[in-house]
Amino acid sequence: MTGYDARFRIWRGDAEGGELRDFTVEVNEGEVVLDVVHRIQATQAADLAVRWNCKAGKCGSCSAEVDGRPRLMCMTRMSVFDPRETVTITPLRAFPVIRDLVTDVSFNYAKAREVPAFVPPEGVAPGAYRMQQVDVERSQEFRKCIECFLCQDTCHVVRDHEENKAAFAGPRFLMRVAELDMHPLDAAREAGLDRGRAAQEEHGLGYCNITKCCTEVCPEGIRITDNALIPLKERVADRKYDPLVWLGSRIGRR
Ligand code: SF4
Ligand code: F3S
Ligand code: FES
Repeated sequence: MTGYDARFRIWRGDAEGGELRDFTVEVNEGEVVLDVVHRIQATQAADLAVRWNCKAGKCGSCSAEVDGRPRLMCMTRMSVFDPRETVTITPLRAFPVIRDLVTDVSFNYAKAREVPAFVPPEGVAPGAYRMQQVDVERSQEFRKCIECFLCQDTCHVVRDHEENKAAFAGPRFLMRVAELDMHPLDAAREAGLDRGRAAQEEHGLGYCNITKCCTEVCPEGIRITDNALIPLKERVADRKYDPLVWLGSRIGRR
């Protein structure tokens, strides 16, 4: 398709409030939403605040909601929209607005700090670590995360429930706990740290009712629910209801 004039509605405002503003802007073949936002910035609204860095789907900065769906603006082609429709862009709904399309995502950094780091096994130098390929692949899938926080934004547990934020780490960080809990070389247990118990009691694993919305919006295609959250839930349940573990805990209490 050759160029055309598109109608955009973009939320403009700050922490005090704001409104949707209409723009009509040129769109050229092959462009993505971020290109069009930049054209609006260059020609009609020089003070429009938008966060971006790589324009290649790798930095995780340009997250916003396009027609209500959490997306990376640099990876959303204009060709997916009907030229007759108005495209609406709003800031991520789960986080406080700083200005226009820029939100304060520091909630996520606070949650990241609550997950204890990998505990290296004693007596094994990093170069001597050996793992099964299946364990390597699991970690590699989770580590594709670009920290765009689209999954955190879409999860219904916090999306409209600010009150749940203190008790819920969100899919991105429960995935981190799952990765470490399933890591064959993580020596957290030997160091007295039960990641499964922490997932349940400190990171709010029980709030997740596996709706899979997080998986649907992940631009890296990480199967967050199937490969991280459900296995983590199973591991927690196995440990809790394992009769030998139960017996051990009863004996330990005497
Ligand atoms: Fe983004 Fe996917 Fe990472 Fe969530 S898991 S922050 S959606 S890349
Ligand atoms: Fe939320 Fe994903 Fe669970 S969207 S409810 S963390 S499956
Ligand atoms: Fe880096 Fe979009 S600008 S992911």
